[in-house]
Amino acid sequence: MYAMDPEHPDREAIEKAGQILRRGGLVAFPTETVYGLGGDALNPESSRKIYAAKGRPSDNPLIVHIARTEDLYKLCDDIPEEVFRLGERFWPGPLTMIMKKSKAVPYETTGGLDTVAVRMPSHPVALALIRSAGGFVAAPSANASGRPSPTRASHVYEDLAGRIECILDGGEVGIGVESTIVDLSVTPPMILRPGYITREDLEEVLGSVGEDATMMKGNGAGAPKAPGMRYRHYAPRGHMVIVEGEAAAVADYINRRVKECREEGRKTGVLCTRESAGTYGADVIKPAGHAGDEEETARHLYGILRDFDEEAVEEIFSESFSSEGFGQAVMNRLLKAAGHTVIRV
Ligand code: TXA
Ligand code: MG
Repeated sequence: MYAMDPEHPDREAIEKAGQILRRGGLVAFPTETVYGLGGDALNPESSRKIYAAKGRPSDNPLIVHIARTEDLYKLCDDIPEEVFRLGERFWPGPLTMIMKKSKAVPYETTGGLDTVAVRMPSHPVALALIRSAGGFVAAPSANASGRPSPTRASHVYEDLAGRIECILDGGEVGIGVESTIVDLSVTPPMILRPGYITREDLEEVLGSVGEDATMMKGNGAGAPKAPGMRYRHYAPRGHMVIVEGEAAAVADYINRRVKECREEGRKTGVLCTRESAGTYGADVIKPAGHAGDEEETARHLYGILRDFDEEAVEEIFSESFSSEGFGQAVMNRLLKAAGHTVIRV
């Protein structure tokens, strides 16, 4: 584990980590969204190692991280012009774009698909590492499969210690949920995963954009287009429900359920806002942020889900948050954590 100032990557540590990647090893590193588990994207053996370390099914494709727009030419022979327009506006940053893959990209990296997902992160440590590794780093989120994505190096350590060679510690990440994914291999372009770059942001550049119907409705709406969205994800170990309605009715319902759980000897947790935290009587109360502050809520969400696990909370009740703008990404992750169980009161 190498700790460093996120704004000023430690040159020696980056060089060592780059060497590990170049010879086929794995390195976890911070990005502005969540920590990634990196391997050389053009080396099939590295991608196999990533799946093994995470315990992730190998048909779930990886995102290739680059540090320069011109490196796209290696990954795709026929780059849609929208990729350049979106790249100019949102790269480096939390946007992943899907396009047809070239021969240089091994099927091990794309989970057997003919398309490749590409992102240029903005985190200085991530950019320095990608350059040092030779330009192409395949990286899923650096959690064990089925656990919430890591927003701190300690989360990576919890999940992957002993399975990877190196963790670069750049402190807590800034955004806290994974990048927006937009598929440009289809017409019109389609959002497969919501993130910090919102639908409105994309529409300013692209005009109208489609959206995978399963994002907010779950698998009841069909099979998700991003293979990874199919798996049970972001899930705490406890049973979790989202309670939606007027604030007072939500608090009444949750407090009544908390009392019932307590009588049955089950430990309870509540995920709420800073403003409402005082209205609950659960065993573990976790305010994610100020009411209406999606950025703060996103930044703390996964850490809180991990805290519930740590404290062995068995029944988790969450307030519902706004789905507008960036709120859509927050609610998408929360809905997944709750297996789309929403109670309206
Ligand atoms: O913010 C992020 O994107 C983070 C950081 C580390 O960059 N990475 C990340 O990777 O979230 P991962 O592997 O946890 O999620 C990648 C998602 C999966 O749902 C996967 O199925 C989807 O992207 N995906 C990757 N390539 C795809 C492709 N060619 N077609 C459709 N979906 C794809
Ligand atoms: Mg992931």
